[in-house]
Amino acid sequence: MIIKYINKQEKQINLKSLDTENFSSISQIYSFTTENISGYFKCIDFENKNILTVAGSGDHIINAIYCGAKKVVGFDINYLALIFTELKLVALENLEYEEFLNYFLINEKSDINKNRNALNYEIYVNKLEKDLSHKAKECMELLYKDFDNDGYALRNSNIFNNKYDNNSLKINSNLYLKSEFEFKKAKEKIKDKEIILINSSYQNIRLKELSNSNTYDIILMSNISDYIKNIYNVKTNYLEKYIVDIIYNFKKSNTKIVCAYLYNIGQDNYRSEVDNPLLRKKIFNNLNITYTEESFTSVIKNCVDSIIII
Ligand SMILES: C[S@@+](CC[C@H](N)C(=O)[O-])C[C@H]1O[C@@H](n2cnc3c(N)ncnc32)[C@H](O)[C@@H]1O
Repeated sequence: MIIKYINKQEKQINLKSLDTENFSSISQIYSFTTENISGYFKCIDFENKNILTVAGSGDHIINAIYCGAKKVVGFDINYLALIFTELKLVALENLEYEEFLNYFLINEKSDINKNRNALNYEIYVNKLEKDLSHKAKECMELLYKDFDNDGYALRNSNIFNNKYDNNSLKINSNLYLKSEFEFKKAKEKIKDKEIILINSSYQNIRLKELSNSNTYDIILMSNISDYIKNIYNVKTNYLEKYIVDIIYNFKKSNTKIVCAYLYNIGQDNYRSEVDNPLLRKKIFNNLNITYTEESFTSVIKNCVDSIIII
């Protein structure tokens, strides 16, 4: 596996500038996806496809490769998310299934207090560090140093967004974590891959500036649509602005864009304009954009989530 960066931060990271309120260049890391990737990746054909995806925790990238993607490019506004993604990809190559779970899950799989293995520093030094890029090493050292090399304290700190961070939820959300067999399948598939990581907001990515331009078959925007009110800094009509931006930046005739992930559909209190089915229908119709919706069971009990595809 080869990992390449575009727009790598040259300055040393200052953890004091960690933004815990917004998504910015140094903000909290998601350790694992918050979506039911196991539920919705089945609705999409990844086989031999080129993918552009939010990097986040790295899980979209790994699951896409597990599902047969040819090329994967990850983007994220948060530089720490890209460093963590690199760490996870390197860990997939170097750790066995149980070791990987124990290293990344917030608590030891079997017992919360007995074995404090999360982000264990010895595992980092002995098995992961050697394959990290210079920048990732520098950043991970800084993070560990801030917590006296206590990985458990780091993993449970506000460097991570630990809301809803629950071992079984995280395992169930990811196809590659379902069993040792699935993990090995992902490990095998990632071996010969080149993964590109872009430190950028989605608005500033210019596909034509990337070497493998105009070849994306699938674009995964995660649930960025939940935050567009703040991104566009307006009270209304932000969904339209978002859709216009992503169409302008990304849409080619055959590109499928998963433009929104909606949690727990069927509620009446809409967090974002995208949650309102009548409003989104109106906006898509006005823009003359056809879209489909796929619903699936959430990893949260008795809930249904869905994705919007354009
Ligand atoms: C939307 S968040 C939420 C977690 C997500 N549902 C998952 O399953 O990983 C995922 C990632 O999107 C990134 N992000 C948020 N706004 C962004 C933007 N405008 N451009 C690029 N990345 C963004 C965040 O930094 C974060 O790492």
